[in-house]
Amino acid sequence: MLVLENINVIFGKGTPDENHALKQICLKIEKGDFITVIGSNGAGKSTLLNVIAGTYQSAGGSISLISPAGAIDITKQSEYKRARFIGRIFQNPLLGTAGNMALADNMIICEKKGYRGLKISLNNAKRDIFRAQLKRLGLGLENRLRDNVGLFSGGQRQALTLLMTIMSKPEVLLLDEHTAALDPVNAEIVMNLTREFAKENNLTVLMITHNMKHALETGNRLLMMDGGEIILDINGKEKQNLTLADLQQRFKAAKNKELANDEILLT
Ligand SMILES: Nc1ncnc2c1ncn2[C@@H]1O[C@H](COP(=O)(O)OP(=O)(O)OP(=O)(O)O)[C@@H](O)[C@H]1O
Ligand SMILES: [Mg+2]
Repeated sequence: MLVLENINVIFGKGTPDENHALKQICLKIEKGDFITVIGSNGAGKSTLLNVIAGTYQSAGGSISLISPAGAIDITKQSEYKRARFIGRIFQNPLLGTAGNMALADNMIICEKKGYRGLKISLNNAKRDIFRAQLKRLGLGLENRLRDNVGLFSGGQRQALTLLMTIMSKPEVLLLDEHTAALDPVNAEIVMNLTREFAKENNLTVLMITHNMKHALETGNRLLMMDGGEIILDINGKEKQNLTLADLQQRFKAAKNKELANDEILLT
């Protein structure tokens, strides 16, 4: 559904600080793929998500969105336009919701994104729908529609960000270490919700993580990045049975050196 061909991102081109952050990346992402992305600090993981979202432009190459209706070249499309079909969640739980607004108002705005141009007010029917959706999170937020979101914990806010992102019906979901700032209990809650929502909505997901357990246990495909390149692309049965030891072995075969544990585990 998303095809990247010869994607290159070069920061500070022509300066002493020139940094070739993505090198000739070719990647075919199928609809419904849940891809975990791992790699050491500076490997190019966030840059890859940024180039898919349109935050950064590729120097040459192309990005196409393939649907039953045909292929659309989105290489030059603005980040704003791509946001109609791409949802993003970042590490910082404060980024995805407006802290100085009530939970109900946050949800109304998010609904508006899904149904462009329709004025939506909070009537009883809507309130019931919001409550039912919030109940899914299992965090008691269904009873706090009037509370400002700024009062919620990081875990509650990130779970809410996830729900609101799903409500806006993206085709592609980009997660950049979205559980890294949470305590282990909340990280598990948000991770489980991520898997459930992705499955229910047949979402196409790219999830960057430094948590090896999450990377191995989640999704149908795993990419390992290193020095701006995708050095491993593992899917299907092999991904299902993948262990940390396999990963170390595959890294050694690809790079002819040992994978230091802290190389990918660093957050
Ligand atoms: N806006 C930018 N300007 C200049 N250099 C950048 C910019 N963004 C990223 N880089 C550089 O590009 C390289 C890849 O960065 P990127 O953020 O994609 O790494 P990452 O794999 O996400 O790492 P981490 O695990 O630390 O988040 C790094 O060397 C980084 O310093
Ligand atoms: Mg990053």
